[in-house]
Amino acid sequence: MAAQLTLEAEVLLPYVTETARSVAEMCRQDGITVRRILDVGSGPGVAACELAQRFPSAEVVAADGSEALLAAAAARAESMGLSHRVSTRHVDLPDGIGSLGRADVIWMAMVLHHIGDEAAMLRRLRGMLDPGGILVLVEHGDPLRFLPDDAAPGPPGLTAQLAAADTAWLADLREGLPGATPSAGYPAMLQAAGFEPAVDHVAHVRLASPLPAEGRRLLLGRLQRMREIFGARLNGPDRDALDVLVDDDHPLGIMHRPDAFLDASRHVYVARATEGPDALGL
Ligand SMILES: C[S@@+](CC[C@H](N)C(=O)[O-])C[C@H]1O[C@@H](n2cnc3c(N)ncnc32)[C@H](O)[C@@H]1O
Repeated sequence: MAAQLTLEAEVLLPYVTETARSVAEMCRQDGITVRRILDVGSGPGVAACELAQRFPSAEVVAADGSEALLAAAAARAESMGLSHRVSTRHVDLPDGIGSLGRADVIWMAMVLHHIGDEAAMLRRLRGMLDPGGILVLVEHGDPLRFLPDDAAPGPPGLTAQLAAADTAWLADLREGLPGATPSAGYPAMLQAAGFEPAVDHVAHVRLASPLPAEGRRLLLGRLQRMREIFGARLNGPDRDALDVLVDDDHPLGIMHRPDAFLDASRHVYVARATEGPDALGL
């Protein structure tokens, strides 16, 4: 899991760099000095290390519930000569969030949907920032695209079927989370928690065909994961097509075909803390 998360984060790094640059510019314009950044649900620390490079005066705390991923984050920081400014912290969300202390910038990428009550989590994050502090919230973007629409194997519309199955799987997963509470849209929840949204866009990272090796490995991992978590929900032809795509020995498998490309995305929200925490009763 650490290897796949690292690969995905490295391929998608351009959106992190672009977002970090715009956050740095917002802070400069607002007169905010960024001294402490929390990367909540940091995984293997790819973004945490990038943030440390983009904010050379800041300490960055990479916090996660997985010791293995925290070890990967610490090793990455060490190998990049950043361990004096990047530290790791074990956290169990949502209850442990308060143990992370205050910050000038909180980065939370692909984590909030793992929390049963997303709105409550946003309110707690708001309480960890001073007015003007920044929250970067990153969630699912557009469905992954990786083959021309009419490409074999399988029926047309495979990408759409995979996206629909993914959405249904995530909805079921969320229903089973502790404290599961229906969520409003992220912009509405951010505003209700005391944030003023400043950026709301879908960032794409595109690799053209023929795909470089890391793009193929990333796609293979994503498709294998889809097969594992919701393959049983697909109809027969779609499942058969997915089986071909993940088959390393098949000429139409994703590791061999020349027409595969990658269009991956993330929905990025950047929001400023507005009201003081006391005003929200936090
Ligand atoms: C999809 S990964 C995202 C990693 C990284 N932020 C990124 O964008 O590449 C989700 C991360 O959240 C962490 N996580 C999920 N639920 C958690 C919880 N309840 N407490 C602490 N960490 C959690 C996982 O261990 C994992 O590292």
